[in-house]
Amino acid sequence: MDMKGKTALVTGASSGLGVEFARQLAAMGANLVITARRADRLESLAAEIREKRGVKVTVLALDLSQPDAAQEIFDKTEAAGTPIDVLVNNAGFACFGPFVETPWECLRTLIEVDIRALTELAHLFSRAMVARDRGWILNVASLVAYMPIPSYAAYSAAKSYVRNFTEALAHELRDTKVRVCSLCPGGIATEFWEVAGQNNPNVLIRATMASPDRVARTGLRAVFGWRRNVVAGLLNALIAWLTRISPRRFLVRIAGLVVGRKS
Ligand SMILES: NC(=O)c1ccc[n+]([C@@H]2O[C@H](COP(=O)([O-])OP(=O)(O)OC[C@H]3O[C@@H](n4cnc5c(N)ncnc54)[C@H](OP(=O)(O)O)[C@@H]3O)[C@@H](O)[C@H]2O)c1
Repeated sequence: MDMKGKTALVTGASSGLGVEFARQLAAMGANLVITARRADRLESLAAEIREKRGVKVTVLALDLSQPDAAQEIFDKTEAAGTPIDVLVNNAGFACFGPFVETPWECLRTLIEVDIRALTELAHLFSRAMVARDRGWILNVASLVAYMPIPSYAAYSAAKSYVRNFTEALAHELRDTKVRVCSLCPGGIATEFWEVAGQNNPNVLIRATMASPDRVARTGLRAVFGWRRNVVAGLLNALIAWLTRISPRRFLVRIAGLVVGRKS
């Protein structure tokens, strides 16, 4: 896909999947707006991409759990005369552990970042994209969107929200030139696990972890290929399919065994 002259916004670009989205979009020729809280990480990624790809990269260091953050990103990109053609709603994190023992602050921030900010960014940018009759939105969900996960109760529910929201929006926008897609990866080797507080995921999870590079490629191919949802990886696609035919009680039990408990 040739993205020369277009601008892509990637949230959560300071590590993991977001870094790969930024690199791959720049390789397609897109100018970038990258955002996360850690400005130093964003600046070094911006320098790397500018030097390697010669595209324009704007850094916006912001905390998406803050109520005005999404509006600020929208206002700044519109005011700069660089309307966003591609939105990659990638920022997200989880709180690992029994729900009743998880501090409310962690859960509140999860809802702010994984649900509210993602929805507000999609709202602001999809309206502008529809008005321009052009655009792509990729929302990062997860394989956990397909099932309830003990020890990740709020996170798995948040990702189900992302998937359902995305597919409904994609349907609403089917007669426009705005494409919307959700990406459902299984485990990826990123800082996600450490941030969630699951420092040693079990051997099954570790053995099946994908590289961020590969997952980002799958997501971008899907959204530019006009898909509405994609599960990254064949094994994960099989698991997603099995969730459709498995009884819910069985599913939640197996998911709990695979994920394990906080020690
Ligand atoms: N890794 C996995 O196994 C996996 C599997 C399925 C789906 N996912 C999803 O993939 C996406 C990317 O995660 P990752 O695996 O790349 O994890 P990661 O390496 O921990 O990256 C998460 C990104 O989100 C940003 N972020 C977190 N809280 C934020 C906040 N309050 N404000 C702004 N930015 C914030 C982080 O930046 P700062 O800390 O600098 O703010 C970071 O850039 C997430 O939506 C995650 O749920 C991950």
